[in-house]
Order: sequence, then C-alpha cells, then structure tokens
Amino acid sequence: MAVKSKTRPPRTSGGKPWGGRFSGETDELLEKLSVSVHFDRRLAPYDIRGSQAHARMLGQTSLVSETESRLMIQGLEELKKRVDGGAFVWDPKLEDVHMNLERALTELIGPAGEKLHTARSRNDQVALDTRLYLLDVSRLAGSELRALRSALVEKAEADGLEAPMPGYTHLQRAQPILLAHHLMAYYQMLSRDQERLRDLQKRLDRMPLGSGALSGTGLPINPRLAADELGFARLSENSLDAVASRDHLLEFLSFGAILMTNLSRLAEDIVLWCSQEFAFAELPDGLSTGSSMMPQKKNPDGAELMRGKAGRVIGDLMALLTVVKGLPMSYNRDLQEDKEPLFDAADTLLLVLPAAARMIAGLSFNRERLYAAADDPYAPATDLADHLVKRGVPFRRAHGEAGAAVAYALKKGVALADLAPDEMARFCPEAAADVMADLKLEKLLAARSAFSGTAPRSVRRQIKAARKALLAEERRAA
Ligand code: ARG
Repeated sequence: MAVKSKTRPPRTSGGKPWGGRFSGETDELLEKLSVSVHFDRRLAPYDIRGSQAHARMLGQTSLVSETESRLMIQGLEELKKRVDGGAFVWDPKLEDVHMNLERALTELIGPAGEKLHTARSRNDQVALDTRLYLLDVSRLAGSELRALRSALVEKAEADGLEAPMPGYTHLQRAQPILLAHHLMAYYQMLSRDQERLRDLQKRLDRMPLGSGALSGTGLPINPRLAADELGFARLSENSLDAVASRDHLLEFLSFGAILMTNLSRLAEDIVLWCSQEFAFAELPDGLSTGSSMMPQKKNPDGAELMRGKAGRVIGDLMALLTVVKGLPMSYNRDLQEDKEPLFDAADTLLLVLPAAARMIAGLSFNRERLYAAADDPYAPATDLADHLVKRGVPFRRAHGEAGAAVAYALKKGVALADLAPDEMARFCPEAAADVMADLKLEKLLAARSAFSGTAPRSVRRQIKAARKALLAEERRAA
C-alpha cells in the first residue's frame, strides 16, 4: 500500500493546497483565525465516505483511471483506520479536515492522490460532509426520542392510571387529573418534536457534490453515481444554493431548541415534584446528587441540567441564525462557524435524551400525596357549575352561583362538599338533592370523558394510540 509520494507540495503559504498563486507564508494570526481542524476533524468519517464515493465516480466516468480510482479508495480506507485508531496526525497548518485528509492521501498513495479533488471544491465537500453527519445524528436523536416517548407511555400506564393528582394553571390547583394524563401531555409534545425531525430529514436528502465551488463543474462527472453510493435519493438542483445554504442546519437546531424547551418544562415539573413542598415524587439515589455541605440533601441535579441545557441549544440556534443572516450569495467563510453550534447541539441532545428517559423510568410517585392534593376542598367547583348547567342553568349564572358557594365555604372553613343541603340550596337553588355525589373525586375524573379529557377511559385510549404509533414508527425506522 505504501507507495512513496513523488509529488512535491507547493512551497508557498506553508505548502497549502491552495498555495499556487501565493508567495511567502500565511500570517500566523490569519493561520489561527482560519484553522478549524480541531473541531471539524469530527467530520473525518463522513469526509472519507464522501471522498470514496467521489473517487469511484471519477473512475466510472474515466476522469481518472480505474487504478487511480482504486488506489484512492484503498488509501482512504487506510486513512480511516488511522483516524479511528487515533494514529492520524492532524496538522493545523492544513486548516481543515478536508485538506488534512487530502494531503495525507497523497503522501500515502502518491500522485493519484492529487486527482481526488478533480471536479470538487471544499465548498461542495463540506456541504456533503455536514449532510452525512446530520443524517446520522438525526437517526440517532430520532431513536433516543422514541425511547423517551416510550418511557413516558410505560410510566403513564404503570403508575399513572390510578393516580389522581391536581392539574394546575398558573401553578394554582385547578382541577383534578390523572398522573397518566400529565405524563401523556409530554408524550404528545415530544411526538410533535419527532414529527419535526422526520420532516427535516426529508430535506437533508440532497447530494451537493457536483456543485463545485459555486457554479458546478465543466468536467464530465456523474453525481448520480456518488449519490447512489451514499444513499441520497435526490441531487441538489442549484449549485449556488448547495454551497451557500445552511437552512437544513438551522432546521435541525430549531428542532433541537424546541425539543429542549419542551424537555426543560418536563424537567421543571420533576424538580417541583421532588421538592418537599410538593413531595409528589422521588428520583432514585442513582439519579440524584448530594450537597457537599448539607448532609441531608438530595438534589434533582439531573433534571436541573436537563432544564439548563436548553439554554445551550437555544444559544446554538441563535449563533447560527446570526452567522447566516445577511450573507451574500454564495459560499462565505463565515459558514465555517456552522459546525461548533451544530456539534454542540447534537452532543447535548444525544446526552440529554437518554438521561431524560432514565429519569422518567426511575421516578417513584407518592400516590397518597398526589391523591390528597387532588382531593382539594374546592377542586369540584367547576363540576358544581357543570351540574347546574345539566339542570338548565346558563353557564355564566352557574359559574356565579358555584363561586358564591365556594366563597361561603371558604369563609366557613369547610370543604365545598361539606356544605349542608340547605346551605347549598341557598347559593345554588337549581342543584339536585344528591349533588354531592357528583362532586366526589372519582366522579370528577370519570366525567372528563370527552375525547382529549382526563377520564381514565380517555387516557387509556390515548395510551393505546401512542403504543400503536410508536410501534409503527419503530418498524419504519428499522
Ligand atoms: N473549512 C471550510 C468550512 O468549513 C471548508 C470550506 C472552505 N472553503 C473555502 N472556500 N475556503 O466552511
């Protein structure tokens, strides 16, 4: 394999592949400003895969000989081993992952390596690499997100169907709900995140090779061959767009920012539930941390970090939006700034999603506390009004009458359901004699049986539909 290179790299600009028209060295400050290899080397596996497809296509279209094409493909395979094994030596003077790999290939296989960049620019190359990377990351994030949704469904079904809890608006007790309903609300939110991800994956499926630096290439290439090898269904239709656009990255970051924002709300609920004030739930020791000073403490740091890391991903989205905003057509070097936010967001999602699933599975709920809080003395106020509506009272008036009964009970210091029949009749003259039976917690819950409500029957239907959807999604992904 080790054919010694007979090629001499240009001596100008520190021997950079683009050094031909330059004399002298690159200013070391520009050198520092330009270098990206310390972060874009993460793209090496995709760069190599893309280059192998390109090299094969160059052979198939006779732009290089069969032998040269084979040499390039094998050489790139060897470089892949070195990269994977940590033996590859990255040279910051060669700026980025693309020039490092190309130079190493030429050193490895000789002059054939100098043909790799035929009909290609780093502009379409980097566009391809980030697409391949994003396709991979999206698949991974998709399966982690499905696992988290499935953890929510499991928990809802196992612990939530017989667990009434207070539902809140304004963080004030509002109406009783089932814990399963609360957990399934997050399932629904995250299902839309999953949909957004699926949708953006469609738009990732475009192969930009052939776009060259910006205008395409005059050489008789066949990008369809490379696209087939790389598994792309479609080619980019406009070379300027292919090298200039980053909206597919912005879409991924938007998806990530919205998902993390949703997760931060779930995290906040966990934090609240685990506080002594609520004491609705506890995280297992393995998913909690202690205090270095206060020996009694058990803190939900994991949930707090899940909440806090939303800030990073929102920041990543803002960073890239700001970089891309106002850039003239087509490629501009500013676009090199797309990678760090992208990697950061992807890493964060792939870290947080499985941790969130673990937290959901690990939560143990305190049924008695949940029940006691759900059985709030004034929680049945809406149901009292509904009771009156069923007996022909217009809702606005029913609301007023029930409100007056609540005010009276509050003043007297008793629960709504503990008002004597004559007291009830004073405020709600249309109430039936057995109105109190309608105000029992189980009744309140069962009554919410309209399609999206919290009645056990409706929530069971929701869980069943969720299981079916997850199964279908998993089949499609496999
Ligand atoms: N490292 C560059 C980037 O990430 C590769 C493309 C460089 N293109 C150029 N015309 N200088 O964008």
